[in-house]
Amino acid sequence: MSSRIELAGVGQVFQVRSDTDKQIEEFVALEGLDLTVEPGELVTIVGPSGCGKSTVLDLVSGLTRPSSGQVVVDGKVVTEPGLDRGVVFQQYTLLPWRTALGNVEFALEAKGGLSRAERTRVAREFLDLVGLPDFENRYPHELSGGMKQRVAIARSLSYQPEVLLMDEPFGALDAQTRERLQEELVQIWKRTGTTIVFITHDIDEAVFLGQRVAVMSARPGRIREVITIDLDRDAPDDVDIRSTPEFAHYRHEIWTLLRQVNRRAQLNEVNQVA
Ligand SMILES: Nc1ncnc2c1ncn2[C@@H]1O[C@H](COP(=O)(O)OP(=O)(O)OP(=O)(O)O)[C@@H](O)[C@H]1O
Ligand SMILES: [Mg+2]
Repeated sequence: MSSRIELAGVGQVFQVRSDTDKQIEEFVALEGLDLTVEPGELVTIVGPSGCGKSTVLDLVSGLTRPSSGQVVVDGKVVTEPGLDRGVVFQQYTLLPWRTALGNVEFALEAKGGLSRAERTRVAREFLDLVGLPDFENRYPHELSGGMKQRVAIARSLSYQPEVLLMDEPFGALDAQTRERLQEELVQIWKRTGTTIVFITHDIDEAVFLGQRVAVMSARPGRIREVITIDLDRDAPDDVDIRSTPEFAHYRHEIWTLLRQVNRRAQLNEVNQVA
């Protein structure tokens, strides 16, 4: 039910218009990026703004193709989007004319193979899983931001993708809703065994969710370091793992790495201008 993701020597070059003479020039967004995510693993990616995190996700989802290197999911080179990979974006991407239930059913219609009644049953099951059993008849404008993201997560999980790609899905939420959804995501991940790649700006979120945290550098974007997070994920509910010394240790380690990465990116920028 879950797949390995392999990015090997991945480069991504974009054609951009230069600021000075408006000529088309090449912008190297990613270069020599290597990352493997094991089946059923939850890996978080952190890195400075603009370092190429969303670009990595676009490549795994198949929305874009790399300029060099290879992206392989479940042993197959990725060439296009597919229902084996679900994506949850930062912005809410629900269909406004469909209810919460209708939005989840929509994904199941796209997948095919289920009767109308079965689609409704499965959609309800997944709305239940994300804690929204009583909101199936609400339209997106009648839902809070956190609820909309839950529907989007339910939609992506409902067709049981082997891989779930999440691009700062909780970025727009308040701290408490965010923590609750993080906890729910861990529970869902444990239940489904889906391989998850989760992008975030938030170090605490990266440490809390990730079995491993990949820290990216900028210009060009590549994986600077991958930290294994060894926290007790089966601790009882009333243990706040975010307050443990181990958590603080990982937070500091990643904070230090990001500071180095940011400094280097600033230096590179200065050198390029000079
Ligand atoms: N289609 C495109 N054409 C030209 N440049 C692009 C394109 N897509 C992304 N870029 C550039 O590639 C770099 C990486 O972009 P990306 O969106 O992957 O960054 P990010 O790490 O997700 O940033 P953020 O944390 O702000 O979301 C940026 O400098 C961006 O301007
Ligand atoms: Mg991004």
